[in-house]
Amino acid sequence: MNNGALGIFDSGVGGLTVVRAVQELLPAENIVYLGDTARVPYGSKSPETIRRFSDEDARYLLGKNVKAIIVACNTATAHALPFLQQQYRIPVIGVIEAGVEAVLADPLAQRIGIIATRGTIDSHAYQHALALRRTGMMIVPQATPLLVPLVEENWLEHPATQQILATYLEPILAKHIDTLLLACTHYPLLVPTLQKMLGESVRIVDSATTCAEHVKKQLGQLEMLADPNQVGTLSIGLTDLSEQFEVLAKRFLHKTPPRIERVVL
Ligand code: DGL
Repeated sequence: MNNGALGIFDSGVGGLTVVRAVQELLPAENIVYLGDTARVPYGSKSPETIRRFSDEDARYLLGKNVKAIIVACNTATAHALPFLQQQYRIPVIGVIEAGVEAVLADPLAQRIGIIATRGTIDSHAYQHALALRRTGMMIVPQATPLLVPLVEENWLEHPATQQILATYLEPILAKHIDTLLLACTHYPLLVPTLQKMLGESVRIVDSATTCAEHVKKQLGQLEMLADPNQVGTLSIGLTDLSEQFEVLAKRFLHKTPPRIERVVL
């Protein structure tokens, strides 16, 4: 048993979808969340910059004495996970493995659309991970770089968002996908809009929420789960505080967030 906090970071507020899922599944865990809102989005940055930012995020969390780090950002997982795992002694868990497992949980999934930031798509991390585990699948990757700023702006159902989504989805839908993988922790908030556009026959898989299962398994194996009798706490730090953040955080967490602290990395 280990009652130390779990450190969770993302480039912005998207990782709060992971926080919510972890709190639901592992209510005893204390969580320290860091959102690098001053530098979001990571998805359009170079791999070197993403690694550097991710390392700074991880170091901040290590300074809080966390027992493990969850990289709640697909872009950071794609480019920095192996680096962080080599660099630090505590477990560092990403979101990609969980997303891939969730897709493959359906034995009939054959035509997979992936939407993500440019950084995640260009890394080929999901394409490789999927192709390694199941042969004969058709994978349709699509970079959707405008979505993170739209979500951070809280434009979830805005006509401009719908139009942009329609443009992004056109080449994917032309391939008659059966599954759409949301390979970005910001995208779960777009699920209602996306499901309407895709119809019920397309299964939407989101790596954020499935990540919690993965964390539970990993920490369980390492005997690092918190005492189940305690009630976990949550603290949130952001590198920049913006006005709409409280609203967004509430949407991501499905409850009023605790007081948010501004942090300097
Ligand atoms: N939540 C991040 C991800 O999953 C957002 C990406 C970004 O900052 O561009 O990729």
